[in-house]
Amino acid sequence: MDITLNNGVVMPALGLGVFQSAPEETTAAVESALATGYRHIDTAAAYGNEREVGEGIRNSGLDRSEIFIETKVWVSDFGYDETLHAWEKAVGKLGVEQLDLLILHQPAPDRFQKTIAAYKALEQLLADGRVRAIGVSNFMPHHLQELLASTDIVPAVNQIELHPYFTQPDVQAADAEHGILTQAWSPIGGITFYPGWGEQRKNVMEDPTIAGIAQAHGKSPAQVMIRWHLQQGRSAIPKSTNPARIAQNFDVFDFELSSEEVAAIDSLDTGNRNGPDPDVAREERFALVIPEA
Ligand code: A2P
Repeated sequence: MDITLNNGVVMPALGLGVFQSAPEETTAAVESALATGYRHIDTAAAYGNEREVGEGIRNSGLDRSEIFIETKVWVSDFGYDETLHAWEKAVGKLGVEQLDLLILHQPAPDRFQKTIAAYKALEQLLADGRVRAIGVSNFMPHHLQELLASTDIVPAVNQIELHPYFTQPDVQAADAEHGILTQAWSPIGGITFYPGWGEQRKNVMEDPTIAGIAQAHGKSPAQVMIRWHLQQGRSAIPKSTNPARIAQNFDVFDFELSSEEVAAIDSLDTGNRNGPDPDVAREERFALVIPEA
């Protein structure tokens, strides 16, 4: 299933995520995904595994043009020249000449001018054909507004925390209003059960409503959640390093949720964020230096 971005570039809606995929597992996960039929991989400078993603892509034997590569600029590389250089680092590690989608990993709320400058560098990279599309991640509606007021090109994508327990309808509406595609990170709610992310969380993978819908279709909760994203026109990038689950998460094109089922999943939203709040400045983020290629 493909989605046409607001600049006409076509992106496979479903991609493989590699957040928290250890470098030594990432190459195999990417190879496994590409062998399964995935044609979109989402990584980030800050994940420390771009090199391994590139290796997996090369090992697949597929032509570069068949694969949609998305990566993200980390906040310590924000600024015009810094972000131009971040592109060099990314393509160097990935071993490619062009990126399909390059996005800002998150706003830097206390350094928004640097965030804007970083986005202007993305605009330049787009104009120069070094990237095919540009976008943002974790931008709240007010961040989008500030960005749109100071830049020329509407982001193609806004990647945000989005799973049945946290759907951010206000952000989805703001994205839609501007023609920005909403892309879900932690689309099957990994952030609700990753160890070490706080113990009070409710695990969406164990939700009884989702379990009931899954049973009715002979599918797993993860497959139901992925289908829920796709049927609502979102992109989703479920992470797995397990070949069986990588395959399972791609096996979502042979069933359809009813509008009642989609609505039932929508109604599970708790309004509670599990990941970091994009409006909270965190100085330690700037201490992470992205290595040269
Ligand atoms: P693993 O890599 O061992 O498969 P998200 O992308 O929403 O953050 O979710 C990622 C988490 O969900 C990871 O912990 C991943 O573990 C797990 N996961 C991925 N696919 C499935 C699946 N089909 N069923 C259950 N857990 C899954």
